[in-house]
Amino acid sequence: MCGIIGYIGNKPASPILINGLMRLEYRGYDSAGISTIEKNGLSIMKDKGRVKNLYDIDGIDKLTGTIGIAHTRWATHGKPSKENSHPHIDNHNMFSVVHNGIIENYNELKTFLLDNGYTFYSQTDTEVVPNLVHYYYTKDTKSDKLKFLRAVKNACNMLNGSFAIEILCKDYPNNMIVVRKDSPLVIGKGEDENYISSDIPAILSFTRNFYLLNDLEFANLSKNSIDFYDNNLNLINKETTVIEWNTSSAEKDGYDDFMLKEIYEQPNAIRETIGAKLDDNSRCDFSELNFTKDFLSSLNNIYIIACGTAMHAGLTGKYAIENLCKIHTEVDVASEFRYRSPLIDKKTLCIFISQSGETADTIAALKLCKEKGAKTLAISNVIGSSLTREADYSVYTHAGPEIAVASTKAYTSQVILITLLAIYFAEVLEQNNSEINLLKKDIIELPKKIEETLKLSETIKNFSRKVYQEKDIFFIGRGIDETVAKEGSLKLKEISYIHSESYPAGELKHGAIALIEKDVTVVSILTDENLVKKTISNIQEVITRGAKTLIITNKDINEDMFDVVIKIPDTNTLLSPILSIIPLQLFAYHISKEKGLDVDKPRNLAKSVTVE
Ligand code: M6R
Repeated sequence: MCGIIGYIGNKPASPILINGLMRLEYRGYDSAGISTIEKNGLSIMKDKGRVKNLYDIDGIDKLTGTIGIAHTRWATHGKPSKENSHPHIDNHNMFSVVHNGIIENYNELKTFLLDNGYTFYSQTDTEVVPNLVHYYYTKDTKSDKLKFLRAVKNACNMLNGSFAIEILCKDYPNNMIVVRKDSPLVIGKGEDENYISSDIPAILSFTRNFYLLNDLEFANLSKNSIDFYDNNLNLINKETTVIEWNTSSAEKDGYDDFMLKEIYEQPNAIRETIGAKLDDNSRCDFSELNFTKDFLSSLNNIYIIACGTAMHAGLTGKYAIENLCKIHTEVDVASEFRYRSPLIDKKTLCIFISQSGETADTIAALKLCKEKGAKTLAISNVIGSSLTREADYSVYTHAGPEIAVASTKAYTSQVILITLLAIYFAEVLEQNNSEINLLKKDIIELPKKIEETLKLSETIKNFSRKVYQEKDIFFIGRGIDETVAKEGSLKLKEISYIHSESYPAGELKHGAIALIEKDVTVVSILTDENLVKKTISNIQEVITRGAKTLIITNKDINEDMFDVVIKIPDTNTLLSPILSIIPLQLFAYHISKEKGLDVDKPRNLAKSVTVE
């Protein structure tokens, strides 16, 4: 939530900052602002609403400063307004600050600062930061080149909560200080210029060389140097990480929206995820894990922990692991898992799934599992993300940057990666087998089958036109199809704002069927051979009550009973979510477009939820 950008170099900072904010806008779009150091001191320009509103601010095009910080906000403390927008400034106009995260003890700090004569203009938690830095700066009697850094460090040591912070100081016009704790921040190294960002894609067109800060590490940047310090202000060495993503993967490339582009990228994303892990004849290769038969046989259970769409991918992982490896597996929502005393010890493997690798609840759950002695394995799309740096082991989906708030290619690449992991575990455990060999063949054919499935877009668009004004839409399925119903329902509600629920098909008659009346749409997923007949009986029950039906299936069924049947290619049941979700992604997309909504930036949402 919230995106931050920084630039220090020889070029005017403001166009670079605004451009960077546009790319980070998926993280929040309640307000935006920039601060640069101009000849006459700190300048701050900000406003409520989208980043593009910044262009309307008088004088923004006249800024010449070559050092600056910027912010796009997802409001937590204080309503969206100009005064609550970042950057924030101290009472003496010496320090400007942008912040992503939450300062949990801001009330105590505010009282402390009020007692020391400071005043406040906003309702934000962030405003304490520039004032606290000012407080420590004026208390410091030394006057050397580290005075600014010391003040920032002393202030940060007072903060509880999460923060990625960039700070400018009027007295140090050639330096910027950044620090993070439990909130994402990367530093991009250029030639005589440096960049800061909340994520890699926003500055990928400037550099491929990134530094990753750990918690409570500080960076003091000038245009041609970056010094890193630990929390005792000892200098530390850092190596750059080279990011291979190409720049066009962070652009729309002719598509109307990132979401549509990312839906169509799925065949290639899956190819990349499968990568070298699998070929026709060999064992599944996860050499980065090197798990032994002894270790896997010692496990009492596996937990898969994640949020939102990533959790839905985890649900499919439970089917794969229990089926292929016969290890008891539970799936948990990270925000609940943390507070329910889960039974975890050395004989537990905890798998965390997160596209961004920055989701606060998922990271907190991982830390808890480590404390309890479990082995932790992260599945992420972002190399070097916080989750992967905390985990004992990490594997990557390699799906390329996902920009749209609604997750699509991240989901399918997570499903395939966790299935590959299940195969790897089964092979290490020397479970049989012929079933695994058939599954591998189906995996290799998947990208082509996704391409075929994408061709169904027009049929889905036509159905979407008929139902886009509806108030409620239900999704049902059994077995692994029910996990897809959950994801299809989430996709629809987040970008179309239509109320939607998903149910195990057999559970409907225990309550929810009371909501089914004439012309309510029920979407059903039928891919599990063993359950098709039973699900059809449940669909029959809603048809009897007047429901309109959309069926997603890979089986030969009597199509006459239903309003629309979308026939997808057949595959192994464990892989069917990768194909059956695609019509549902397109369904949500076309409905959102039909309603004229902003597909990529749905209201109230942000791509990375970096606060609890
Ligand atoms: O980055 P993460 O995978 O950890 O994000 C978790 C959820 O916030 C995310 O999957 C969210 O549910 C999707 N963007 C919804 O489409």
